[in-house]
Amino acid sequence: MPAPAPIKVALLGCGTVGTEVVRLLTDQAPDLTARVGAPVELAGIAVRKPNKHREVPAELLTTDVDALLESDVDVVVEVIGGIEPVRTWLLKALNAGKSVVTANKALLAEHSAELFEAADRSGADLYFEAAVAGAIPLLRPLRESLAGDRITRVMGIVNGTTNFILSGMDATGAGYGEALEEATRLGYAEADPTADVDGFDAASKAAILASLAFHSRVTAAEVHREGIASVSAADIAAAKGLGRTVKLLAICERVTQGGAESVSVRVHPAMIPRTHPLAGVHGAFNAVFVEADAAGEMMFYGKGAGGAPTASAVLGDLVAVARNRVQGGRGPRESAYAALPARPMGQTPTRYHISLDVADKPGVLSQVAAVFAEHDVSIAAVRQEGRVDDAGLVIVTHAATDAALRSTVDKIGGLPVVREVVSVMRVEGEET
Ligand code: HSE
Repeated sequence: MPAPAPIKVALLGCGTVGTEVVRLLTDQAPDLTARVGAPVELAGIAVRKPNKHREVPAELLTTDVDALLESDVDVVVEVIGGIEPVRTWLLKALNAGKSVVTANKALLAEHSAELFEAADRSGADLYFEAAVAGAIPLLRPLRESLAGDRITRVMGIVNGTTNFILSGMDATGAGYGEALEEATRLGYAEADPTADVDGFDAASKAAILASLAFHSRVTAAEVHREGIASVSAADIAAAKGLGRTVKLLAICERVTQGGAESVSVRVHPAMIPRTHPLAGVHGAFNAVFVEADAAGEMMFYGKGAGGAPTASAVLGDLVAVARNRVQGGRGPRESAYAALPARPMGQTPTRYHISLDVADKPGVLSQVAAVFAEHDVSIAAVRQEGRVDDAGLVIVTHAATDAALRSTVDKIGGLPVVREVVSVMRVEGEET
């Protein structure tokens, strides 16, 4: 039998993840050959400054991305990130029939339609397991293992930086600024933490998760996004007082109303019970909780970032794509047939926890309760703590639309008997 032709790989980018991809490809070459049925060969590595990459073979380095893409490579692995010029390069590769493995969440969350269309036209594969929750096998379970089920909800911690900050606030009682400083000092938060703390990173991941889970196309622009900068020590303390903790959640939910289905895709901080499996996810770890009609509840947990963990997911995709090439087929294609619309946040059912400082005198509770009734918001629980000349009032609602809940809070804040709205936080992970 003639030796099988090698699968030739172009690597675009050689930072923290790319370096680990090269290491794993080199160290595990004999195993990868056995698993794929052909050698997997690195044909070139595109970088901006070749003299800055002493850790990889110099003869593979190039600054000429177009020449590398036009060579006889079979697979392009992209670990650069950002939209352009990567979008142009990956479209060029897919149009030429080269399969693509990418970790680029921002690109997929904005431009997946044209990338999938290019892959379909040329018969190439497009795999992106590393784009969401790093090492955790999550996209393949959603796309393949659960393809026969009906997913109702995907709720996860998909950003390690913000989870590290919120875990720190919960553990020490520190405020947001202090916890962010600590995360920066320890290297968990970047010098410019905007993408993480303002929820952009998680929103891209939520768009990708929702698209796969609900066989629809959701873009990052359709994801309601709130970051963690406004989470205060008072919010965390209020949560603790009720046996809850605060997490930045990416939530993708099937909503059925009047017989019509839509998807609510959102990223925001929320209180969850300390007994919820996601409450036990601390530090920079990621975890995603999935609910499906037949399978029930599942949780996927692991490292969501870092060179080696992300490279593990990239290599898994590379092996899958290489196997498809050897066998002459393609992996599962995009499935957007359901085309469910994204639901605006104002119309999304959610629950609020509201903590107020109020005057402690007759009629206060009834005035506050009347505002809830006016907005058709049902109260699930009320707790009052009397102090010397005022009282702390904590109210947890049943599910109502976010618009109704916001209007309720606005009006309550204006009542003369309410001295301060101390904390407003959404509640997730428990019966509505
Ligand atoms: N910056 C992300 C995080 C990892 O903090 O989890 C890459 O998506």
